[in-house]
Amino acid sequence: MWEKVEQTANYIFSITNFTPQDGIILGSGLGNFVDDIAIEFSIPYTDLPNFPVTTVAGHGGRLIFGTIGSKKVVAMQGRFHFYEGYSMQQVTFPVRVMKQLGVQKLIVSNASGGVNPGYKVGDVVIINDHINLMPEHPLRGANDERFGPRFVNMSEPYNRSLIRLAKEIAIREQIEVKDGVYLGLQGPTFETLAEYRMVKILGADCVGMSTVPEVIVARHMDVECFGLSVITDMGDTPDNLATVSHEEVLEAARSAEPKVRNLIKQLIIES
Ligand code: HPA
Repeated sequence: MWEKVEQTANYIFSITNFTPQDGIILGSGLGNFVDDIAIEFSIPYTDLPNFPVTTVAGHGGRLIFGTIGSKKVVAMQGRFHFYEGYSMQQVTFPVRVMKQLGVQKLIVSNASGGVNPGYKVGDVVIINDHINLMPEHPLRGANDERFGPRFVNMSEPYNRSLIRLAKEIAIREQIEVKDGVYLGLQGPTFETLAEYRMVKILGADCVGMSTVPEVIVARHMDVECFGLSVITDMGDTPDNLATVSHEEVLEAARSAEPKVRNLIKQLIIES
């Protein structure tokens, strides 16, 4: 794995000497965030050695390099999900490459189903912790100490100072935010009513199919993380649940996009 990551990073270094400070993974409905980046160049995933091959037609993902304010960033336009059939090592490979390029901070966004009765569709949630219930672990197998330790401390998966700063920015910019615990399941099915109840009983506020593996791998390499989730459906109300669909999820995520864009942009500039 180390050699593969180096090979991919070296390929990028052979094209450019751009060294990003922050990495960004854009979730469902947040694709337009790339408009906030002054793009210097981008590389299609298909050009990158060792990168997972995207199977979905018309979903040509790419790595975008550019600046936001004075910050140099690399953003993944299109992420890999475990439910698509990738291994956990493949899902998290881009995060390892980002670190090799110089990234110290990872910002992730996603769409999720809310189970906290204080949430509503369209809410933006600052993820303050997570529960990993994915069936495979990205760090399972021999550990390479060059990446990080065998046993990773997960007491602060989401960096507290970044959370504090984001909340300050939200107040100043009048962006309404909530915070909460994100629970990761593999999907691709949405949860049954009983499963949403389980998620709530287990202590989470929202549930989704991404983010947890990327954050674990980032923490393995001591990269600081910040996560935002857009509530796209509410799992605690049978009426809402009856209609949950991919279209609904995308629409709700899109409606929250201006708020999320603004918050992430300011956070990158000010952190
Ligand atoms: N469950 C899981 N993943 C999701 C949901 C959900 O309700 N909404 C958006 N992504």
